[in-house]
Amino acid sequence: MQSLLKFITCGSVDDGKSTLIGHMLYDAKLIFADQEKALELDSKVGSRNGQIDYSLLLDGLMAEREQGITIDVAYRYFTTERRSFIVADTPGHEEYTRNMAVGASFADLAVILVDASKGVLVQTKRHTRICSLMGIRHVVYAVNKMDLINYDKYDFQDIQRQIKQMVSEYNFETLHIIPVSATEGDNVTKPSNKMGWYKEGTLLEYLENIDVTDHSDETGFVMPVQRVSRPDHTFRGFQGQIEVGGISVGDEVVSLPSGEKSHVKSILRTNQEVTTAGKGEAVTIQLEDEIDVSRGCMLAKDVNLHCGKMFTSRLLWMDDSNLVAGKNYFLKIGTKMVPCVVMNIKYKVDVNEGNHVQTDRLYKNEIACCDISCADKIVYDEFAHHKELGGFILIDRVTNMTSACGIVEHSLRRDDNLTWHTMDITRDLRAQQKGQNPKTIWMTGLSGAGKSTLINEVEKRLFALGKHTMLLDGDNVRMGLNRNLGFKEQDRIENIRRVAEVAKLMNDAGLIVLTSFISPFASDRLRAREIIGGDNFIEIYVSTPLEECEKRDVKGLYKKARAGEIPNFSGISSPYEPPKDAEVEINTTGKTIEESVDYIMEQLESIL
Ligand code: ADX
Repeated sequence: MQSLLKFITCGSVDDGKSTLIGHMLYDAKLIFADQEKALELDSKVGSRNGQIDYSLLLDGLMAEREQGITIDVAYRYFTTERRSFIVADTPGHEEYTRNMAVGASFADLAVILVDASKGVLVQTKRHTRICSLMGIRHVVYAVNKMDLINYDKYDFQDIQRQIKQMVSEYNFETLHIIPVSATEGDNVTKPSNKMGWYKEGTLLEYLENIDVTDHSDETGFVMPVQRVSRPDHTFRGFQGQIEVGGISVGDEVVSLPSGEKSHVKSILRTNQEVTTAGKGEAVTIQLEDEIDVSRGCMLAKDVNLHCGKMFTSRLLWMDDSNLVAGKNYFLKIGTKMVPCVVMNIKYKVDVNEGNHVQTDRLYKNEIACCDISCADKIVYDEFAHHKELGGFILIDRVTNMTSACGIVEHSLRRDDNLTWHTMDITRDLRAQQKGQNPKTIWMTGLSGAGKSTLINEVEKRLFALGKHTMLLDGDNVRMGLNRNLGFKEQDRIENIRRVAEVAKLMNDAGLIVLTSFISPFASDRLRAREIIGGDNFIEIYVSTPLEECEKRDVKGLYKKARAGEIPNFSGISSPYEPPKDAEVEINTTGKTIEESVDYIMEQLESIL
């Protein structure tokens, strides 16, 4: 079988990336005749005075052409006599970093374009850093537009020096630097007659011949379980793609994280029974024993994987909203998805020089080193050992967008030496003794919405009904337990986390807990719900609008905030994200306190 090279091209809008690849396809006679014809016709109205505009070949979609930019990652497949290729072309506009990271995660090699008339730029450094971050081991720098610098050998050598100096901090396995002119075709598929001084062949030749096989001697076996197949009660098979090594019938495997062991009874490859299967193959594995295996588990043999909750990572931030320490996300690693918290931003990396810079906030396209803590144990490896087992993404819990991609640098063993002790007097016993069902009634809304007033009245009603309650109020808790926290985003996140943990402890004690906190961020309320437990969490959204709260201004804080005397004031200079599916919603505008409380009690009646 012909070998396959998966590569990515990196460059900005004007670097001539699409032109370069277009030229390669065209010269290598790899396009269909009708496409060629279309291209010639198109070029009559294109940008190169009737000469063929090769970039049109890649900028496939009409809409993209009209805008003159390529959008999202376009995968092109082509083949020569020597090799097959898949190239991920990533556009050079605003979402570039995200697209490039996506493209790079699939590629073995990167062709990074450098404009010969400009030399190594900040973006060349950024591209190189992202390629390295995504585990690309082979890089080619195509020094393009040599025609603009009169095919000058010494100018090229100067750029060559700049590139070599730049890559010295990385561990790429191979590095190749080649002078080309994408528009004229020099050294793309044909040797240039204008650069007789360069004798190392064309770009296409290089791509046809480079060996990208992973020579690290990988032993063992790992398969993340994608699906459990149970067509009937006689068969239970685990489906997935083999990420590491190979497996044979009879081999002993361990299921992680449970640690239970069994032997392989059968292996199916596309419904065909086989005795052995290797890396990259999608298989169904049947085991001899009924052990604990579900989606997100790993089947493994002879490998040392980490099984824990905390690790240090390197993140490429891709979200428009910033990252601050303490924020929580979903982490997806392999087939497993778990809630997680970015505990800290240790430093961000300056793309130019690679320096470490202290920061409390990460903006889009920045790279940083962060510690991450997951809600459950996950199975992973360091990215440097296994690319497939150490790469992950972070997903925003509210928007469901990918916020970051990252790699595991090393594990943190802080929680390994802690053991949860199960005590004899349980939560259920404590609740029974009080004759009630412990819940947390979580009130959220703007300052002045009426939270404290309402929660106070609700507690009085519950108390009168003989319930055992406890009330946690924002201002009060901030005078004690949380006196060291302010109103910056990271402080509010920590405020809500602590309150949720305390509420949970009080629920464990058998109490019905009532809270009154602005709790402005949706993801923090989600996390509070998780800490306390979905069944025990009742969210009441006091949706009194900002104008009404400001009109009331009981504490005079809105006036001060408008005057610029209180920074980060919720609703004014700091956002409030309204809940979408609160169990109860109440707008107090035009209602008496009694009417509002009656309404809340009615709603609570069936729940408590
Ligand atoms: S939260 O955002 O972290 O949930 P919390 O409910 O604890 O806030 O505290 C809000 C109370 O703190 C308000 O009712 C108000 O009295 C006071 N406060 C002081 N500064 C601010 C501010 N910048 N934003 C909001 N509330 C503030």
